[in-house]
Amino acid sequence: EMAEKNGYDHFMLKEIYEQPRVVEDTLRGKITDSSVKLDGINLTKEDLEKIEKINIVACGTSYHAGLVGKYLIEQNLRIPTEVDVASEFRYKDPILSEKNLVIVISQSGETADTLAGLREAKKKGAKVIGIINVVGSTITRESDGTIYTNAGPEIGVASTKAFVSQLTALYLFLLYFGEERNILSLEKRKYIVDGLKKLPEMIAEVLKRDNEILKASEEFKGVNSLMFIGRNINYPIALEGALKLKEISYIHAEGYPAGELKHGPIALIEEEVPTVAIAVKSDTYDKVISNIQEIKARSGKIIAVATDGDEKIKEHADIILRIHEVDEIFSPILTVLPLQLLAYHISNKRGLDVDKPRNLAKSVTVE
Ligand code: G6P
Repeated sequence: EMAEKNGYDHFMLKEIYEQPRVVEDTLRGKITDSSVKLDGINLTKEDLEKIEKINIVACGTSYHAGLVGKYLIEQNLRIPTEVDVASEFRYKDPILSEKNLVIVISQSGETADTLAGLREAKKKGAKVIGIINVVGSTITRESDGTIYTNAGPEIGVASTKAFVSQLTALYLFLLYFGEERNILSLEKRKYIVDGLKKLPEMIAEVLKRDNEILKASEEFKGVNSLMFIGRNINYPIALEGALKLKEISYIHAEGYPAGELKHGPIALIEEEVPTVAIAVKSDTYDKVISNIQEIKARSGKIIAVATDGDEKIKEHADIILRIHEVDEIFSPILTVLPLQLLAYHISNKRGLDVDKPRNLAKSVTVE
């Protein structure tokens, strides 16, 4: 096992540090300067022309990737997209026909509820494609097509590299659908491809900045409750940050859209309840800053995930975790990294079993 961990203390840490390579592997052989080639997707021109709506179905961390996918698809392709957790989707009698494209996202390709959602979708005539890590898994066999994420085996129960590879696959889908349906211009596609190619290096750089994260984990390892907030495409990353922390540190955590804080959760804020605020450069930056001010006014400590060069954030945050300046469209792949490391360090400092947290399974093949 030591050898498999490649010198890292835990599989989770090894998998976090594999992420630059994982993005490269998900992209490998699939992109040129402005196009993607997704061999396994198996959708004909005719199938594609029919699609009026996209449904994304997944569980856990894969569901959070799906939520990022909704922002990506709706904002760039203007195709209405609905995201459901699979255990809800399968029982809600979803409205589906051949006009829907259902994307199921699953690391294992074996999650029982996700598989049941796929079967429900096919029964109703929708085309189904999977974004899947495990080659030959049940979901890939039953889907019409698959985009493999090529993240390699993920051993840590808390998903990290699989998530980043799922996001990468969603950018590939965006490019594919945008080109096939003539929605994205050549310039826009080139811009996205360029951005994607720069990600592995940027991820590696962010992962080198562990010092501040260690400091934060030392300061907050003893708290009983933490809040995570974000807006727009980084709202799902707040959910994912909270999930990571819950899963492996057993600390109560809530992820919230920053603007929704005042409708309830702000009642929980006090000195002992810190907030992780994703406050990267974006159209909603000022809005997030005012949410941070509301928290500070109630003595809440702030750990901000912010962009390099942002001086203003120093006036508001107790601890700042930096990422590179990047178009908001790509930011989730970077903002999730410090949150993964924060959860890892806190769990580790609390002396817990990082890779095998209590009550959780890597793959949930029963209902
Ligand atoms: C379990 C795992 C999570 C994972 C979820 C969905 O709950 O502990 O890490 O996100 O299942 O798994 P899947 O294999 O379908 O992505």
